[in-house]
Amino acid sequence: MNVKTVSTQPYDDQRPGTSGLRKRVSIFQKPNYLENFIQSLFDSLEGFRGQTLVLGGDGRYYNRTAIQIVLKMAAANGFGRVLVGQGGILSTPAASCIIRKYRAFGGIILSASHNPGGPDGDFGVKYNIGNGGPAPAAVTEAIYARSQEILEYKTIEAVELDLDRLGTSTLGNMAVEVVDSVVDYAELMSSLFDFDRIRDYLRGDFRICMDSMHAVTGPYATAILERQLGAPVGTVLNGLPREDFGGGHPDPNLVYAHDLVDIMFGDGAPDFGAASDGDGDRNMILGNNFFVTPSDSLAVLAANATLVPGYQDGLAGVARSMPTSQAADRVAAKLGIHSYETPTGWKFFGNLLDANKATLCGEESFGTSSSHIREKDGLWAVLFWLNILAVKQQPVADIVRGHWRTYGRNYYSRHDYEGVDKALANVLMEQLRAVIPNLEGKPFGNYTVKYADDFSYTDPVDGSVAQKQGIRIGFADGSRIVFRLSGTGTQGATLRLYVESYEPDSARQNRDTQDALGDLIAIAKDVAQIPTLTGRDRPTVIT
Ligand code: G6P
Ligand code: ZN
Repeated sequence: MNVKTVSTQPYDDQRPGTSGLRKRVSIFQKPNYLENFIQSLFDSLEGFRGQTLVLGGDGRYYNRTAIQIVLKMAAANGFGRVLVGQGGILSTPAASCIIRKYRAFGGIILSASHNPGGPDGDFGVKYNIGNGGPAPAAVTEAIYARSQEILEYKTIEAVELDLDRLGTSTLGNMAVEVVDSVVDYAELMSSLFDFDRIRDYLRGDFRICMDSMHAVTGPYATAILERQLGAPVGTVLNGLPREDFGGGHPDPNLVYAHDLVDIMFGDGAPDFGAASDGDGDRNMILGNNFFVTPSDSLAVLAANATLVPGYQDGLAGVARSMPTSQAADRVAAKLGIHSYETPTGWKFFGNLLDANKATLCGEESFGTSSSHIREKDGLWAVLFWLNILAVKQQPVADIVRGHWRTYGRNYYSRHDYEGVDKALANVLMEQLRAVIPNLEGKPFGNYTVKYADDFSYTDPVDGSVAQKQGIRIGFADGSRIVFRLSGTGTQGATLRLYVESYEPDSARQNRDTQDALGDLIAIAKDVAQIPTLTGRDRPTVIT
């Protein structure tokens, strides 16, 4: 094998964020930018010689080029085998599934998740460890440290590999297996859910619609929903992964998934609608003229889990990220299980899942999943809902309203201020940090502050501590406002304001969310001086 050592210079901006290294494509195209990061990653890992690496991405622009680069570097660095998704395609959950199933050393997922793609869009690299989950901070920090001093990388001279033909070939001393992107994942789904029951239900007059947003879940959703479960051809919208996601923003929320929203809130809407993001780990669930918040979705799945074969023995616990509403906590309390509150970022669920402390996890950022893999999983959430619907045979809205009657409703909304000047956003957070020690007991209209802090988390499994994870202001009636800066944006800063109130009275559970939260939103804007400091009177996106 002809290993070539190439000299390079470090870049100073290769610190992975909430979910891998995410930058504009043009930055990844700088000389050796990707190579530096991949070599820094390999240099930070130990014991992978002869082992298996999983490789694939969401099909966005630069995916195929990047895969060829990574393959050659993996061969030069001594991996024994790479499993690469056909056409370079692997959704994030499918990559997690394959890492676990084939006991790989780890996996590289090429994706900038829900960020727009194309030559002017974003690209990204995520590294997942052997449990199938995102690399913990110790690993990403080691990669970053290495990237600051890297002076050379290893590759081999070789021709481009055909990524479209299934089968095994060799690259240097390494085997490359091009594997079907869908089969292993689909098999795992059929082991968790009652496919026969869902198939029967879909045979009746229950109608569904799935928007893959021109992104990676197209092939997965078409194979599972249309071919295996018999939903009509055409159920999956925008089902062909495109390098630029059709010019859209592949984020399944009420603003960006407008094709689906128009259908589900239009005349003659189907009974169930769902969308997923660029790399397939996020989901949005809709009923006929009804939006299920991700926080409620987690709570409803937890409350109904035993209706689903894969969870019929019950849940070990549930976990939610701190800004996610407390709806799941109420279900956990009733079930007599623990509800964990973790910082934002799926990686914080890994230890809880590995230690079997939690079975279901969810985040307000349209992420839900379980111990079946170590990533959030968009299609899994869709199938979980379909399984519950097939058993209960009730409209989505009735299931959620019934849930509120039993547990109370957590009104919930997130306001995003995108593209804010970074320095100003930091000032805003620092000023909040300065005022929180004096807030306890302070009244704001009808609300009295019960606690105010900067969230810090001690992992119950390995004792690691994550600090400064967002400012929480909790009120005596259980309402909360939370502020944090996004860890995934690539332009300026995004300030996220999360607002939640609790309504136990079923007569008051059908108000408009923004109205119900109006007072709290005003308090939040005032306490953080959002208009003064950001120059913005209103958020960019409300979900
Ligand atoms: C990614 C992670 C999620 C996390 C989200 C937060 O999608 O996979 O686990 O919730 O980022 O994004 P933010 O922009 O709020 O940091
Ligand atoms: Zn994603």
